[in-house]
Amino acid sequence: MPRYGRTTRALHWAMAALMIWLLWLGARLAWSEPSLALIPVFTWHKSLGLVVFALALIRLVWHRIAPPPKPVDLPPMQYRLARTVHVSMYVLMVALPLSGWIGSAALGPDVLAFGLALPRIVPVSQALSDTAFTVHEWLAYALLLCLALHVSGTAYHRNLARIVTG
Ligand code: HEM
Ligand code: HEM
Repeated sequence: MPRYGRTTRALHWAMAALMIWLLWLGARLAWSEPSLALIPVFTWHKSLGLVVFALALIRLVWHRIAPPPKPVDLPPMQYRLARTVHVSMYVLMVALPLSGWIGSAALGPDVLAFGLALPRIVPVSQALSDTAFTVHEWLAYALLLCLALHVSGTAYHRNLARIVTG
């Protein structure tokens, strides 16, 4: 059976772990009462989210250099669903960090990744920040939905070995 390469697998699993962790950190930000104890959660959420953004750009380039192996044989409907979910997840791994970055930058203070200030990508605007965070929240729900379909699809077809062991 055609396999995924080592770099593709490393990128997939590093990003999967980071994105699931970010969903958890994001849920804590959304559901907790405001408190000073949340500051490190914000800091980690932003820094790791920006790592996902950088890895997503690398992954998209890598996808061109080393295209994925031929898909496993699936009934046409399942194939289309799997493909739609994969494409959606590629979009989400860019759009989620970008919406978070825009929402944070539009608030005013510098957006920091591991203590380093990032370029100011948008003007300060409370309205823009609110819109970006609303989008960010809906994209997070979309990621959860994709993840549920993705994990159940791959578990059902028992082809995990293709991306686990190469
Ligand atoms: C947020 C987390 C995740 C994201 C964003 C993600 C994204 C992706 C994407 C985009 C692909 C398609 C790669 C390509 O062919 O171009 C893929 C493949 C795959 N993923 Fe994930 N994934 C995530 C988590 C998981 C988890 C938790 C599992 C474990 C069940 C998993 C199992 C797989 C498998 C088995 C494939 C290969 C499917 C095949 O052989 O065609 N992924 N993933
Ligand atoms: C893959 C990357 C990311 C994921 C999966 C993610 C996920 C989430 C989730 C689930 C929430 C809670 C949404 C809600 O119900 O309000 C959230 C909130 C938040 N995220 Fe992200 N995020 C990511 C990247 C980023 C980045 C890069 C930044 C900023 C640089 C960021 C900044 C924020 C902030 C400031 C909040 C709190 C919003 C508020 O106060 O309403 N996120 N994120």
